Amino acid sequence: MHEFETLIERGSPDDFLFRQLDPARLPRHLAIIMDGNGRWAKRRGQARIAGHPAGVEAVRTTVENCARLGIPTLTLYAFSSENWRRPRLEVTMLMRLLQECLRREVPLLNRHGVRLRFIGRLEALSAEIRKALDYAVTMTADNHRMTLNVALNYGGRAEIVDALRAVAREFKVRGRSLDTLTEEDVARHLYTESDPDLLIRTSGEMRLSNFLLWQMAYTEIFVTDTLWPDFNRTHLLEALVAYQRRSRRFGGVETVGVPVPALA
Ligand code: IPE
Ligand code: IPE
Ligand code: MG
Repeated sequence: MHEFETLIERGSPDDFLFRQLDPARLPRHLAIIMDGNGRWAKRRGQARIAGHPAGVEAVRTTVENCARLGIPTLTLYAFSSENWRRPRLEVTMLMRLLQECLRREVPLLNRHGVRLRFIGRLEALSAEIRKALDYAVTMTADNHRMTLNVALNYGGRAEIVDALRAVAREFKVRGRSLDTLTEEDVARHLYTESDPDLLIRTSGEMRLSNFLLWQMAYTEIFVTDTLWPDFNRTHLLEALVAYQRRSRRFGGVETVGVPVPALA
């Protein structure tokens, strides 16, 4: 029996959703814009920053659920290159929360076979934070069930600029002309190894906010009004069921069981 199934109560809404899923057609790569922590706290009459610790709980359950479901790659947007514009207290609190969380959650990641990676301009983070990142990455490096990418000081445009710089250096070393540059050359130098099949954004915002701009050319987008701290297993299953009902055409026409031929 699927590990996930053993944890679901028979006849519950999650059971109903899970039964609609085809385990063979789950997204290979799921990306999530975890948004709405501030609004969640404000609705409770608390300061915006009180929403972030509540958001951490939702991260934990989502990581566990994705690993149990057998999703090979999960990429979470934790802090954008534009989030430095927030009040200093909020930024400090987010960094402290990250540090605490990394220290505490390594055993959980190991238990679920999750390999942790960070994407973004990490060199701009403090030495203390980088040490905490390195520790968690090293401690989980041998896990193979799921790769968890956490986007930190991440910007999609900055990522493309970094890839182009790396490509230009590589071409110079190899003596290749930039006129021969292909999409694959750029993709090879991006922070991620694959493109997300599905993007979930919580809290109702219909925008990408500079997340994985290159990689999301053909990603299916699922926006839910649920605020991130409220995002649970049921919401995750709903998104996965909706994803499996989509018809992904990649610019072609609907094909039933016929693979889309590569461009000549
Ligand atoms: C997402 O929640 C967390 C981060 C961006 C770090 P927000 O803090 O953006 O919450 P809202 O959008 O203000 O409700
Ligand atoms: C996107 O959320 C960034 C993260 C979730 C880390 P924001 O709350 O920063 O996005 P905008 O400002 O509403 O576009
Ligand atoms: Mg927000």
